[in-house]
Amino acid sequence: MIDPTRASLLSGVLAALAMGGCDTTPVNNNQNYMPEQPIAFSHAVHAGHYEIDCQYCHVGAEKSRHAGIPHAGVCMNCHTQVKTDSPEIQKLTQAVKLNKPIEWVRVHRLPDHAYFNHANHVTAGLECQKCHGPVQEMVRLEQAEPMTMGWCLDCHRQTQESRAKAPVPPLASGVLMASASGVPTVKAPTPPAPRTLNPPTDCSGCHR
Ligand code: HEC
Ligand code: HEC
Ligand code: HEC
Ligand code: HEC
Ligand code: HEC
Repeated sequence: MIDPTRASLLSGVLAALAMGGCDTTPVNNNQNYMPEQPIAFSHAVHAGHYEIDCQYCHVGAEKSRHAGIPHAGVCMNCHTQVKTDSPEIQKLTQAVKLNKPIEWVRVHRLPDHAYFNHANHVTAGLECQKCHGPVQEMVRLEQAEPMTMGWCLDCHRQTQESRAKAPVPPLASGVLMASASGVPTVKAPTPPAPRTLNPPTDCSGCHR
């Protein structure tokens, strides 16, 4: 099952571990991990009830490896006005005043030897909820999925088997063309053929 040339790309530790087989006990199964946060921020209120777009706060998700956690300045776009008398908002205001970052407790964390990039998944058309569950209903954020190697591979294999296509970006408007009669005509641009998604299932795809 393990292609030796690929396996040799892995670190010694990984290769040695892999000799015991790939479906060993997952080390990263933090499913349902739901730590208490320094401020009682609710996704159910912000992303659910008030329908604030995920990427209003997690601006990196479509363009970079990390989705990112918003800094307190983003919160203050509203909370200089909204609920300023709440003790939770006063914690926020105080942190901004002292120029201290809010120490959010990290919920999801892959081990360093596994490579994951948000941009490549989000632009392939996957919704956040596919991997993070119904975040818009969560009062306190929870890791919804196991995020083990088997979990990654299941989706990669299913995507390959179903020959799913990448979303086609919206078409540019028509291009004005000169014509023999002198009346310009509008030539519609040819839509690009949708690309078949091909997520990696070889070791070096995710262990770089
Ligand atoms: C108003 C800003 C805001 C919006 C809108 C928002 N989030 Fe968040 N998100 C945060 C903050 C702040 C945290 C860190 C605190 C926490 O975990 O609750 C966070 C944490 C997370 C985490 C966990 C990060 C970790 O530590 O592993 C995920 C996943 C997440 N958000 C997904 C989403 C999704 C999906 C949506 C849209 C449905 C969304 N968020 C909308 C502000 C926001
Ligand atoms: C294909 C699965 C997948 C999708 C789709 C996905 N995520 Fe994630 N997300 C992950 C994994 C895996 C991690 C842990 C990454 C790590 O530890 O390096 C993570 C971590 C995070 C984190 C904390 C660390 C970071 O990267 O900043 C936030 C916040 C987050 N995701 C938000 C989002 C939002 C918002 C969306 C949708 C726009 C989204 N995710 C879409 C799998 C996914
Ligand atoms: C787009 C506007 C907007 C942004 C941005 C925003 N919030 Fe809010 N927030 C609200 C609204 C609206 C409420 C609900 C107020 C109510 O219940 O009357 C709220 C409620 C809250 C509450 C509950 C307060 C209480 O005592 O009931 C907390 C805590 C909170 N927000 C924290 C944050 C944090 C932290 C951020 C930044 C990560 C943030 N908010 C960003 C609009 C926003
Ligand atoms: C719900 C489905 C799904 C899950 C879960 C998922 N992926 Fe993917 N993955 C994809 C799709 C779709 C692509 C895009 C393939 C393409 O663009 O051809 C992709 C691409 C990739 C790529 C190649 C592009 C890049 O970022 O370099 C890597 C590496 C990758 N995934 C790692 C992971 C890891 C690690 C996990 C688990 C933590 C994971 N994926 C979980 C669907 C998924
Ligand atoms: C689609 C992404 C992906 C591919 C492909 C992949 N892995 Fe992984 N692997 C991960 C992630 C994510 C983890 C960390 C989570 C976990 O331990 O389940 C991991 C963990 C591991 C671990 C440590 C697990 C343990 O139990 O200690 C080993 C060893 C490993 N991978 C070997 C391999 C080998 C060998 C291959 C090729 C046959 C491979 N991986 C292919 C994503 C991947």
